[in-house]
Amino acid sequence: MKLVLIGCPGAGKGTQAKILSKHFGLAHISTGDLLREQVKSETPLGLKLKSIMESGGLVSDDIVSELLSQRIKADDCKNGYILDGYPRNVSQAEGLSAIVGELDRVVDIEVADELIIERMSGRRSCGGCGAMYHVKYNPPKAEGICDSCGGKLITRSDDAPETVKHRLDVYHSQTAPVIDYYNKKGIVLKIDGSKPIDEVSKELTELLEKL
Ligand code: AP5
Repeated sequence: MKLVLIGCPGAGKGTQAKILSKHFGLAHISTGDLLREQVKSETPLGLKLKSIMESGGLVSDDIVSELLSQRIKADDCKNGYILDGYPRNVSQAEGLSAIVGELDRVVDIEVADELIIERMSGRRSCGGCGAMYHVKYNPPKAEGICDSCGGKLITRSDDAPETVKHRLDVYHSQTAPVIDYYNKKGIVLKIDGSKPIDEVSKELTELLEKL
């Protein structure tokens, strides 16, 4: 199965992709994570990416597409994968079929902008294993410590409210048209992402099991 999860920043793409990846045995490919790995390793590319990502703008299509093309060759992608954060504009959507062929479904996780600032300011992620938490909606057992690996929980530098507002603008102007692009192909599943995490994943899993 080849899936795309689309939705505004903080819609829950990463959270749901981790759950679905375990349930269906699919690789979870987050282009945001691929780019953050470059920044963390301070590669020449990473140094270039840092300021773009901290500002909430989009990285150029050729850089992201190249990272995706490499990642998709890995063994864990043989049974299929979930793309989280790609495509981010119509040009990436047009290029995607050349990289991965036909998609099975595009899941549009809908959440109103008003809910997003609170979600983002409460997000914490593990610097070690990447597990995702929220101080209110999905808190770790011990504050600041990852339940899974004991790693330290961190706040993303692009989750500051002003940057989140810019990321939402970028989403509405550049990424939302991708949903229309896939609507025309008849492969979009819409999900209400404002419900609690386990309700969203239950609904999504049931819909995907019917495919
Ligand atoms: P990326 O990492 O992809 O960020 P994003 O799309 O802005 O999405 P997020 O990861 O912030 O949110 P999410 O939807 O995954 O939500 P999450 O599950 O974490 O991209 C970062 C940057 O990289 C971009 O700005 C850009 O610069 C660059 N980039 C990446 N891909 C690119 C591309 N293709 N082209 C160009 N540039 C690219 O949830 C958020 C919080 O809410 C968590 O705390 C979670 O616990 C909580 N939560 C989740 N679901 C629920 C729920 N149902 N109820 C309550 N709380 C919930």
